[in-house]
Amino acid sequence: MRFGVLTGGGDCPGLNAAIRAVVRRSALFGHTTLGFLDGWKGLRDDLSRPLDPASVQGILSRGGTILGSSRTNPFLKEGDAAKVLATLAGHAVDVLIAIGGDDTLSAARELHRRGGKVVGVPKTMDNDVAGTDWTFGFHSAVAVAVDALERLRDTADSHHRAIVLEVMGRNAGWVALATGLAGGADVTLVPEEPYDEAALLRHVQRAVAARGSALIVASEGIDLGPQKGSAGARDDFGHELLRERGVGAELARRIQEGTGVETRSAQIGHIQRGGSPELFDRILASRLGAGAVDLALAGRFGEVAVLRGPVVIGIPLDEAVGTTKTVTPDWLDLLHTFDA
Ligand code: F6P
Repeated sequence: MRFGVLTGGGDCPGLNAAIRAVVRRSALFGHTTLGFLDGWKGLRDDLSRPLDPASVQGILSRGGTILGSSRTNPFLKEGDAAKVLATLAGHAVDVLIAIGGDDTLSAARELHRRGGKVVGVPKTMDNDVAGTDWTFGFHSAVAVAVDALERLRDTADSHHRAIVLEVMGRNAGWVALATGLAGGADVTLVPEEPYDEAALLRHVQRAVAARGSALIVASEGIDLGPQKGSAGARDDFGHELLRERGVGAELARRIQEGTGVETRSAQIGHIQRGGSPELFDRILASRLGAGAVDLALAGRFGEVAVLRGPVVIGIPLDEAVGTTKTVTPDWLDLLHTFDA
């Protein structure tokens, strides 16, 4: 068999580990792999490079993706969809492994509907793909965010300030939740809960009264109502670039005004998406990449390899795309145990 593989959407640590797993697992059974460059753009524009076990040597621990990525939606224009199918046919690709988040996997589902043979692998630092317990990239991103929070604690303590750390995550609060929990924030704001300014100011005041400083973690996706800086720019899949709203800076302004405590903010942005994957992500990416090859070899096209409890299973792409997996009430209940 000839496998194709692509990585689409925002990059995250673990993508190279997943590519390596696809290549190594398919080679183990005597098959070959072609890598498409820059996500679906590579299929639309016929950009590819052959991959073999030697070419994926040493990439397990490297961040980013050796194949490149983009947020190209190949099904926006009919002409592009035809080009994708022609590229697959032209290279005699039997099955495509699409590694990505909701957008990339939605495009994979569309390809499947049009007769293409495809298997998905979920990834994203946002951890918001339905049907899988975790996505790789998430734990690594949270480790970076927790490190940032701990550095900010030093300054907050030294200067008796409040500091807001704004993290990514789009419309799901997983990154903020995990950063707040693991980093010991005084209050954590996630998009799953309505913004309550009175409560926020109360928590900040309590923390400052108790310790002389306060740490706030805010997800980029929280809704503060109309604010300056909302850029409204959208990508190919229609998503607003949320960090351009700058909720962290706006919160810092409101906290300082509402409490009189000197307040700063930090937005770590894409720093969260770079660097070497944490061990959990290396292993999860390896399991899902290999699992996707196994699904393909079993003829289970139109499925996606996911983690359910201790095992990797295949579920239909339909079950994994179209819904954002958001933070559940039990997690929020735990989170608020630690509010100041
Ligand atoms: O989906 C991953 C993510 O990092 C989101 O958390 C964030 O909103 C978005 O991508 C940023 O996109 P871009 O890399 O296009 O600026």
